[in-house]
Amino acid sequence: METKIIKIDKNNFKEEELKEAADILKKGGLVAFPTETVYGLGADGLNPEASKKIYEAKGRPSDNPLILHIANIAALEELTVECPEMGLKLAEAFWPGPLTMIFKKSKAVPYKTTGGLETVAIRMPSHPIAYELIRKSGVYIAAPSANISGRPSPTMAEHVIEDMNGRIEMIIDGGMVDIGLESTIVDVTGDVPTILRPGYITASMLEAVVGTVNFDKVVLAKKADANIVPKAPGMKYKHYAPKGDLTILEGSMEAVIQGINECAAEKLSKGFKVGIIATDETFSRYPQGLVKSIGTRKDEDTIAHGLFQILREFDTEGTEYIYTESFESKQLGQAIMNRLLKAAGYHIIKVHDTGLL
Ligand code: TXA
Ligand code: MG
Repeated sequence: METKIIKIDKNNFKEEELKEAADILKKGGLVAFPTETVYGLGADGLNPEASKKIYEAKGRPSDNPLILHIANIAALEELTVECPEMGLKLAEAFWPGPLTMIFKKSKAVPYKTTGGLETVAIRMPSHPIAYELIRKSGVYIAAPSANISGRPSPTMAEHVIEDMNGRIEMIIDGGMVDIGLESTIVDVTGDVPTILRPGYITASMLEAVVGTVNFDKVVLAKKADANIVPKAPGMKYKHYAPKGDLTILEGSMEAVIQGINECAAEKLSKGFKVGIIATDETFSRYPQGLVKSIGTRKDEDTIAHGLFQILREFDTEGTEYIYTESFESKQLGQAIMNRLLKAAGYHIIKVHDTGLL
C-alpha cells in the first residue's frame, strides 16, 4: 500500500485540508495524526473491521485495548453506560487534554476496540489537528500510539514514517508534538479514581480536583513482577524499548556520572557502540561514547519531550549499550521514570559514592 504523507500547519490550516483524511477514516481506513502527547494511529473505533486493521498495522496483541478519541463531551452518553461524578469533574478540569479515562462501555463500542473488555478508554485531545479530524470525519477515532508495537512512541512524523510507511493509507505531518509522553490513564469505574498509567497530568493535579487518587500496583513497581497483573493490559508488555541494551543508573549525581563513565569505558574497550543519556547540566561530564542531552533538569517538560526521540536516535545510530541518568519519581518525573524503567526492562544499577556495586 502506498502511504500518502501530507503536511499541515497546526497553527494555521483550513478544515478542507483534512477532507481526504476524514474520508479515509469514514471508509474504514487508517490515518496517523499528531496529538498533543504522541502521534496516534487512527481508525473508526465503532467499526470492528477498521479497529482490526490497527492491530495488524502495529503488530499489537489483540487483548490490548484502544483509546477512543472524542471531540465533544456529549459523546460519553453514546459510548458509556454511566459517567460517574468524578469522571465529569476530571473531564471538566482536563479535557481537552492529555487525560484518558476508563468507563463502563456501552453496546455501541465493539469488543474489537476494547480488547474484549467491558470498559472503554476515552480521551478528548487538545491538538487542533486531532480535534478537527474527529469533528470533520464524524467518527470516534480509536488510536493507539502510531509505533510498531514495543518501539518508542512517535513524537514526530518522521518516526511514524519509519514504522508505518506502506502499512497505512495516510500520515499527517503536523510537526513535533508538545508533550512527548502518552496521556495519563485514570480508571473511574471504581470508588476511588485509579491511575493506570502516569502521564503529563500528575497525581497531585488530579487530587486537586477529586481528592485522593490511587495507583494501580504496576505503576509503583520498581522491578518486573509477573505476579502483578496491570489493569491497563498495555502496561504488561515490554515497551518503548530501544534496540540497544538500556541501563538506568541511580544514586547521587556525582556517583551516577562516575558510574556511567565506568560502564561506558568498559563496553567501549570491548569495541561496542555506547550511548549516554545526559542532561544539559551534566553533558560535559562524559568524555567518551555518543553523548546526548535529553533536556534540562530545571524543566522536566523538556525531558518528557526528548525521551522517545533520543531512544529512536540511538536506534538509528546502531547503539548497542545505552546508559542513562535517572530522575526523581514525582510529579512529571513519575511518568518519565515509568517509561524509562519499561524501556530498560527495569534494569537499574544503584551506585554509591564509593563507585559501582
Ligand atoms: O496519549 C495517548 O494516550 C496516545 C495518543 C495517541 O492519544 N495513545 C496511546 O495509546 O498511548 P496506546 O494504545 O499506546 O496506549 C493505550 C493504553 C494501553 O496500555 C491500553 O492497555 C490501555 O491504554 N487501555 C485502553 N483501554 C483500556 C481499558 N478499557 N482498560 C484498561 N486499560 C485500557
Ligand atoms: Mg503505545
